[in-house]
Amino acid sequence: MPMHDARVSSEALRSESAESTACTIRIAQHNRARLPYPGSAGERTGESSVVSLKRFVRNLYDLIQVPISIVFLLDARTIHPAYAMTWPRRLALGFRMFLNTRRMTVATSYKNHLAMALRILELPPDVAGHVVECGCYKGGSATNLSLVCRITGRKLLLFDSFQGLPKGHADDREASKYAEGDYAGSLEEVRATITRYGAIECVEFVPGWFDQTLPGVDFPIALLFLDVDLEASLNTCVRNLWPYLVDGGCLFTDEGIFTDYVALFWSERWWRETFATTPPGMIGSGCGLPLGTYYVGPWEERFHYPLQKPSIVAYTRKGMSGYWSFYPEDHA
Ligand SMILES: C[S@@+](CC[C@H](N)C(=O)[O-])C[C@H]1O[C@@H](n2cnc3c(N)ncnc32)[C@H](O)[C@@H]1O
Repeated sequence: MPMHDARVSSEALRSESAESTACTIRIAQHNRARLPYPGSAGERTGESSVVSLKRFVRNLYDLIQVPISIVFLLDARTIHPAYAMTWPRRLALGFRMFLNTRRMTVATSYKNHLAMALRILELPPDVAGHVVECGCYKGGSATNLSLVCRITGRKLLLFDSFQGLPKGHADDREASKYAEGDYAGSLEEVRATITRYGAIECVEFVPGWFDQTLPGVDFPIALLFLDVDLEASLNTCVRNLWPYLVDGGCLFTDEGIFTDYVALFWSERWWRETFATTPPGMIGSGCGLPLGTYYVGPWEERFHYPLQKPSIVAYTRKGMSGYWSFYPEDHA
């Protein structure tokens, strides 16, 4: 496949994966109209109806999961009582996040936003720290994160070029999937979206390329969401921000299904040379967090499994360890 097609296809698939839950109701209604009645000629027209049936089944499954996902993800005794998250408030937050992802342009699913919300709600209010998102595109995930920031009294800092991805570095394996300027969203667009659907009063923007804006960071971070696509961008973000993540704070990445990408969080060399420590590991490496979807991976084989749709975020927590230390031969 030509590189450009590959990029478009990868972007389209990513966007489908992320947005299909958000678009479930609309697509399900659309498909209901298109699906042939049992026994009609349309039902016998081969692959296209099979394909649309599979899409219908997947979207129906996504739709059924909405209330179930909200209940399962937010039924946590670990949510700090200071936030007074009664069940009506939990459900309101979950449904609002879901609806937001239907109304906005967003590259991640509401389930991923809920998983991050949970981790923010678990942190006691006396643990200082902002929520930081690097990579906000049109402001979709930022909008939902801002809602949790309002509840928890935290600030949301948004780092982005606001002109899309930079030119890829020659050694960056992810760079071949994208073109310069992909995922562009202007600061005005992002601000307008958050103003309309989120909590703009909690948000601060830091426009610019990461290698220029992140080295100046000097504040505690309660939760870090890195949705930055490129390996070079991931490297810059982790290098500059990890030291400021508070103990127990979580770092989420939206590229959890890519084993080479999340290898950074298992790389003994990278952690030794960068922070003189051992790697933290990453929950969800290679398959994303198990948020109610089916996925046997790997991502490259996805066309063989049309019904599978992973949640693609993964996370690590400050204080976690992903390091093999059993080498009995060293003492032989
Ligand atoms: C996939 S999009 C983010 C999607 C968004 N989180 C969502 O859920 O809708 C990736 C973003 O990362 C930003 N980005 C990647 N590398 C960057 C860099 N080195 N400096 C600044 N922005 C960068 C791009 O501008 C883009 O907005």
